[in-house]
Amino acid sequence: MNKKLEIIKQKVIICTNCELCKTRTNSVPGKGNFHSNVIFVGEAPGKNEDKNGEPFIGIAGKRLSMALEEAGISRDEVYITNIVKCRPPKNRVPTAIERETCKEYLKQEITIIKPKIICILGNTAFNSILGGSEITKFRGKLVKKDNQLYFLTVHPAATIYNQELIRVLKKDIVKLFNLIVKLKNNKKVKIDIDYTA
Ligand code: URA
Repeated sequence: MNKKLEIIKQKVIICTNCELCKTRTNSVPGKGNFHSNVIFVGEAPGKNEDKNGEPFIGIAGKRLSMALEEAGISRDEVYITNIVKCRPPKNRVPTAIERETCKEYLKQEITIIKPKIICILGNTAFNSILGGSEITKFRGKLVKKDNQLYFLTVHPAATIYNQELIRVLKKDIVKLFNLIVKLKNNKKVKIDIDYTA
Protein backbone atom coordinates (compact mmCIF):
# COMPACT_ATOMS: atom_id res chain seq x y z
CA MET A 1 0.00 0.00 0.00
CA ASN A 2 0.98 3.58 -0.60
CA LYS A 3 2.63 5.12 2.49
CA LYS A 4 0.40 8.19 2.63
CA LEU A 5 -2.74 6.06 2.29
CA GLU A 6 -1.43 3.78 5.02
CA ILE A 7 -1.11 6.82 7.31
CA ILE A 8 -4.74 7.80 6.60
CA LYS A 9 -5.80 4.20 7.20
CA GLN A 10 -4.13 4.19 10.62
CA LYS A 11 -5.72 7.56 11.48
CA VAL A 12 -9.16 6.22 10.51
CA ILE A 13 -8.63 3.07 12.59
CA ILE A 14 -8.06 5.07 15.80
CA CYS A 15 -10.33 8.03 14.93
CA THR A 16 -12.48 9.46 17.74
CA ASN A 17 -13.55 12.64 15.94
CA CYS A 18 -17.29 11.91 16.17
CA GLU A 19 -19.78 9.97 18.25
CA LEU A 20 -19.76 6.99 15.85
CA CYS A 21 -16.49 5.81 17.42
CA LYS A 22 -18.49 4.89 20.54
CA THR A 23 -20.78 2.43 18.78
CA ARG A 24 -18.53 0.97 16.07
CA THR A 25 -16.75 -2.40 16.28
CA ASN A 26 -14.16 -1.39 13.67
CA SER A 27 -13.76 1.71 11.61
CA VAL A 28 -13.62 1.05 7.88
CA PRO A 29 -10.87 2.78 5.91
CA GLY A 30 -10.95 2.83 2.12
CA LYS A 31 -9.44 -0.17 0.37
CA GLY A 32 -8.02 -1.01 -3.02
CA ASN A 33 -5.56 -0.08 -5.70
CA PHE A 34 -4.01 3.33 -5.19
CA HIS A 35 -3.11 3.47 -8.90
CA SER A 36 -6.81 3.16 -9.70
CA ASN A 37 -8.34 5.55 -12.23
CA VAL A 38 -11.56 5.48 -10.26
CA ILE A 39 -12.62 5.82 -6.62
CA PHE A 40 -16.03 4.42 -5.70
CA VAL A 41 -17.67 6.31 -2.84
CA GLY A 42 -20.55 4.79 -0.86
CA GLU A 43 -22.44 6.05 2.19
CA ALA A 44 -21.15 4.36 5.33
CA PRO A 45 -20.19 0.87 6.51
CA GLY A 46 -22.94 -1.62 7.33
CA LYS A 47 -22.95 -4.55 9.76
CA ASN A 48 -20.50 -6.80 7.87
CA GLU A 49 -18.13 -3.95 7.16
CA ASP A 50 -18.20 -2.87 10.82
CA LYS A 51 -17.41 -6.44 11.88
CA ASN A 52 -14.49 -6.87 9.47
CA GLY A 53 -13.14 -3.34 8.94
CA GLU A 54 -13.45 -3.51 5.11
CA PRO A 55 -15.76 -1.52 2.82
CA PHE A 56 -18.51 -3.13 0.74
CA ILE A 57 -18.10 -6.76 1.78
CA GLY A 58 -21.78 -7.47 2.59
CA ILE A 59 -24.73 -7.95 0.23
CA ALA A 60 -24.36 -4.46 -1.27
CA GLY A 61 -20.66 -5.18 -1.82
CA LYS A 62 -21.51 -8.39 -3.68
CA ARG A 63 -23.78 -6.37 -5.97
CA LEU A 64 -20.97 -3.92 -6.63
CA SER A 65 -18.50 -6.76 -7.34
CA MET A 66 -21.02 -8.38 -9.69
CA ALA A 67 -21.49 -5.16 -11.65
CA LEU A 68 -17.70 -4.67 -11.85
CA GLU A 69 -17.12 -8.24 -13.00
CA GLU A 70 -19.73 -7.85 -15.76
CA ALA A 71 -17.78 -4.83 -16.97
CA GLY A 72 -14.61 -6.99 -16.94
CA ILE A 73 -13.13 -5.24 -13.89
CA SER A 74 -11.91 -6.95 -10.74
CA ARG A 75 -12.35 -5.28 -7.36
CA ASP A 76 -8.59 -5.32 -6.80
CA GLU A 77 -8.16 -2.92 -9.70
CA VAL A 78 -10.22 -0.16 -8.11
CA TYR A 79 -10.34 1.82 -4.86
CA ILE A 80 -13.49 1.69 -2.73
CA THR A 81 -14.36 3.94 0.19
CA ASN A 82 -17.24 5.66 1.99
CA ILE A 83 -18.30 9.17 2.95
CA VAL A 84 -18.32 8.13 6.62
CA LYS A 85 -15.83 5.55 7.85
CA CYS A 86 -17.77 4.16 10.83
CA ARG A 87 -21.14 2.39 10.91
CA PRO A 88 -24.05 4.53 12.06
CA PRO A 89 -26.20 2.61 14.59
CA LYS A 90 -28.90 0.50 12.88
CA ASN A 91 -27.51 1.63 9.51
CA ARG A 92 -29.19 5.01 9.76
CA VAL A 93 -28.09 7.68 7.28
CA PRO A 94 -25.04 9.52 8.67
CA THR A 95 -25.84 12.98 10.03
CA ALA A 96 -24.52 16.20 8.49
CA ILE A 97 -22.08 16.54 11.41
CA GLU A 98 -20.77 12.97 10.98
CA ARG A 99 -20.30 13.53 7.25
CA GLU A 100 -18.60 16.86 7.75
CA THR A 101 -16.28 15.46 10.44
CA CYS A 102 -15.24 12.56 8.22
CA LYS A 103 -14.87 14.62 5.03
CA GLU A 104 -11.16 15.27 5.48
CA TYR A 105 -10.29 11.55 5.13
CA LEU A 106 -12.04 11.31 1.75
CA LYS A 107 -10.42 14.55 0.63
CA GLN A 108 -6.99 13.09 1.43
CA GLU A 109 -7.77 9.78 -0.30
CA ILE A 110 -8.72 11.73 -3.44
CA THR A 111 -5.60 13.93 -3.26
CA ILE A 112 -3.32 10.88 -3.05
CA ILE A 113 -5.02 8.66 -5.64
CA LYS A 114 -5.89 11.44 -8.11
CA PRO A 115 -8.60 9.40 -9.85
CA LYS A 116 -9.70 10.30 -13.35
CA ILE A 117 -13.29 9.83 -12.17
CA ILE A 118 -14.94 9.61 -8.75
CA CYS A 119 -17.92 7.27 -8.92
CA ILE A 120 -20.67 8.42 -6.57
CA LEU A 121 -22.82 5.55 -5.30
CA GLY A 122 -26.25 6.71 -4.19
CA ASN A 123 -27.89 9.73 -2.63
CA THR A 124 -25.78 10.22 0.52
CA ALA A 125 -22.54 10.42 -1.45
CA PHE A 126 -24.26 12.55 -4.12
CA ASN A 127 -25.51 14.98 -1.50
CA SER A 128 -22.28 15.05 0.52
CA ILE A 129 -19.95 15.58 -2.45
CA LEU A 130 -22.03 17.59 -4.93
CA GLY A 131 -24.99 18.80 -2.85
CA GLY A 132 -27.32 16.80 -5.11
CA SER A 133 -30.42 14.71 -4.53
CA GLU A 134 -32.58 12.25 -6.48
CA ILE A 135 -29.74 10.11 -7.81
CA THR A 136 -32.15 8.04 -9.92
CA LYS A 137 -32.82 11.15 -12.03
CA PHE A 138 -29.13 11.93 -12.51
CA ARG A 139 -27.57 8.47 -12.65
CA GLY A 140 -25.47 7.61 -15.67
CA LYS A 141 -24.31 11.22 -15.94
CA LEU A 142 -20.78 12.59 -15.98
CA VAL A 143 -20.32 15.70 -13.87
CA LYS A 144 -17.43 18.15 -13.74
CA LYS A 145 -16.70 20.27 -10.69
CA ASP A 146 -13.48 22.11 -9.78
CA ASN A 147 -11.49 20.19 -12.39
CA GLN A 148 -12.62 16.81 -11.09
CA LEU A 149 -14.91 14.42 -12.95
CA TYR A 150 -17.66 12.55 -11.13
CA PHE A 151 -19.87 9.76 -12.41
CA LEU A 152 -23.26 9.22 -10.77
CA THR A 153 -24.94 5.90 -10.19
CA VAL A 154 -27.32 4.19 -7.81
CA HIS A 155 -26.22 2.68 -4.50
CA PRO A 156 -25.62 -1.09 -4.86
CA ALA A 157 -27.86 -1.69 -1.79
CA ALA A 158 -30.78 -0.18 -3.72
CA THR A 159 -30.45 -3.02 -6.26
CA ILE A 160 -31.08 -5.73 -3.67
CA TYR A 161 -34.87 -5.54 -3.82
CA ASN A 162 -35.12 -4.01 -7.27
CA GLN A 163 -34.10 -6.13 -10.25
CA GLU A 164 -34.43 -3.16 -12.60
CA LEU A 165 -31.79 -1.27 -10.64
CA ILE A 166 -29.21 -4.08 -10.89
CA ARG A 167 -29.53 -3.78 -14.67
CA VAL A 168 -29.11 0.00 -14.31
CA LEU A 169 -26.04 -0.35 -12.06
CA LYS A 170 -24.38 -2.78 -14.48
CA LYS A 171 -25.11 -0.53 -17.46
CA ASP A 172 -23.71 2.50 -15.61
CA ILE A 173 -20.51 0.70 -14.59
CA VAL A 174 -19.91 -0.33 -18.22
CA LYS A 175 -20.40 3.33 -19.25
CA LEU A 176 -18.03 4.46 -16.48
CA PHE A 177 -15.22 2.20 -17.68
CA ASN A 178 -15.79 3.20 -21.30
CA LEU A 179 -15.34 6.81 -20.19
CA ILE A 180 -12.15 5.91 -18.35
CA VAL A 181 -10.75 4.19 -21.46
CA LYS A 182 -11.49 7.33 -23.47
CA LEU A 183 -9.81 9.55 -20.87
CA LYS A 184 -6.75 7.28 -20.77
CA ASN A 185 -6.51 7.62 -24.54
CA ASN A 186 -6.85 11.41 -24.29
CA LYS A 187 -10.15 11.27 -26.15
CA LYS A 188 -12.89 13.83 -25.51
CA VAL A 189 -15.73 12.83 -23.20
CA LYS A 190 -19.16 14.42 -23.02
CA ILE A 191 -19.71 16.26 -19.74
CA ASP A 192 -23.41 16.08 -18.86
CA ILE A 193 -23.37 18.61 -16.01
CA ASP A 194 -20.67 21.22 -15.51
CA TYR A 195 -20.84 22.76 -12.03
CA THR A 196 -17.94 25.07 -12.84
CA ALA A 197 -19.60 26.60 -15.89
N1 URA B 1 -23.01 0.42 2.09
C1 URA B 1 -22.13 1.44 1.95
O1 URA B 1 -22.49 2.55 1.57
N2 URA B 1 -20.86 1.19 2.20
C2 URA B 1 -20.40 0.01 2.59
O2 URA B 1 -19.19 -0.13 2.80
C3 URA B 1 -21.33 -1.04 2.73
C4 URA B 1 -22.63 -0.81 2.48
